[in-house]
Amino acid sequence: MYIYKAAVVGAGAMGAEIAQVISYAGIPVVLKDVSDEFVRKGLDKIHSIYKRRVEQGKLEPAEMEKKFSLVKGSTSYSDFKDVDVVIEAVPEKIGIKEAVFKDIDASTPRHAILATNTSSLPISAIGAATKRPGQVVGLHFFYPAHVMKLIEIIPGLATDSGTVEDMIRFSETLRKLPIVVNECAGFLINRLLMPYLNEAAYCLEEGASGLEAMDQAVKDFGMPMGPFTLVDNVGLDICRDVEFVLLDAYGNRMKPAALWEAMYEKKFYGRKSSKGFFLYPDGAGKNPELDSMISAIQAQHKIKKGEFSVERLLFPMVNEAALCVQENISRPADIEVGVMAGLGFPRERGGVLHYADSVGIDVVFSELKKMYARYGDRFWPAPLLKRMVDAGYLGKKTGRGFFEYR
Ligand SMILES: NC(=O)c1ccc[n+]([C@@H]2O[C@H](COP(=O)([O-])OP(=O)(O)OC[C@H]3O[C@@H](n4cnc5c(N)ncnc54)[C@H](O)[C@@H]3O)[C@@H](O)[C@H]2O)c1
Repeated sequence: MYIYKAAVVGAGAMGAEIAQVISYAGIPVVLKDVSDEFVRKGLDKIHSIYKRRVEQGKLEPAEMEKKFSLVKGSTSYSDFKDVDVVIEAVPEKIGIKEAVFKDIDASTPRHAILATNTSSLPISAIGAATKRPGQVVGLHFFYPAHVMKLIEIIPGLATDSGTVEDMIRFSETLRKLPIVVNECAGFLINRLLMPYLNEAAYCLEEGASGLEAMDQAVKDFGMPMGPFTLVDNVGLDICRDVEFVLLDAYGNRMKPAALWEAMYEKKFYGRKSSKGFFLYPDGAGKNPELDSMISAIQAQHKIKKGEFSVERLLFPMVNEAALCVQENISRPADIEVGVMAGLGFPRERGGVLHYADSVGIDVVFSELKKMYARYGDRFWPAPLLKRMVDAGYLGKKTGRGFFEYR
């Protein structure tokens, strides 16, 4: 199905940017919120994104006006009569989403696809609030949506394959990189990211190394920034919410480091609250309150001194990626696109599974076993890794691992 007209519900941080992306691709889009004030704020944000493009010499002013005029602000669903797709970007509360999906189910043409930009809520449950669950799908953009290329397309239990294909084509029309992710807690990217960030927090509270040294080691590996800078940028409060969604779904291997809660209680959210692991606005200095917090956690939980290595942070991500392959969450090639476009995994390493193939699947497996013996459940190796080792799928050195090498 070709998308001639789209609508976005919620003109906040994500909704406004998504509407900008759609208009930039030349597709008319209705941007709806609950009040004229919220709609105006959303339109202002879109205008400022376009203005910056003009200032950077990437867009002619006349072209900007043409594209910007494709966005129509609205506070009413009466403008949804002729849309082919709706993207919902209202607050992350299941009750609000279900109510919005009932409304858009009633106010859009029968053929329209209803997509949600939820970061963590179950697509199947949202679909069940409508009379057309086959046409309900997750369309997960990343922040900032006008910059980030990746889109996770998440079918729920009832989503038709045609809906998924239509959303792949639509995402490509928006010049994005779509990957299909079968429904699971955290979807793909947050599910791979959090074990890595969590392990960094464990290293810190075990006194394994210093903040700056760990951030630097990860940058030397090729990541665009270290884990602590990343948490400060994303917001520790958001990371903590995701941690608990993952803990609820996957149990002990996602058990959050005590440091998350301690920092959350002190509102050390990062950039947005001026204090996180580092101090802001400049991000140069370390938060001076961290050391005493860590000493208190060490005493309370009787924490032994740990050992830091980049592998200790990355192998939980490798392991989770192996579990995703095993559970058919995404194709290995899509996992690689996802980690490079969504997490900044270094391109020269080809993605997290290529990295495992380079290290050697037997090495990854035996190191995970050693870390399991020392640090516990977070490192129990994915059964797929053992099957690969037993079958001689050891990665590059045997010509076969997650990928084939000739
Ligand atoms: N912010 C991020 O980094 C990010 C990234 C990816 C996905 N998401 C997801 O995107 C969604 C939106 O997040 P956000 O950060 O843009 O939230 P936000 O709070 O910035 O914006 C939400 C907007 O929805 C509006 N709204 C509330 N109820 C509405 C209704 N019934 N009809 C129309 N508009 C309504 C609010 O007035 C507000 O303007 C959430 O599901 C979130 O999990 C957020």
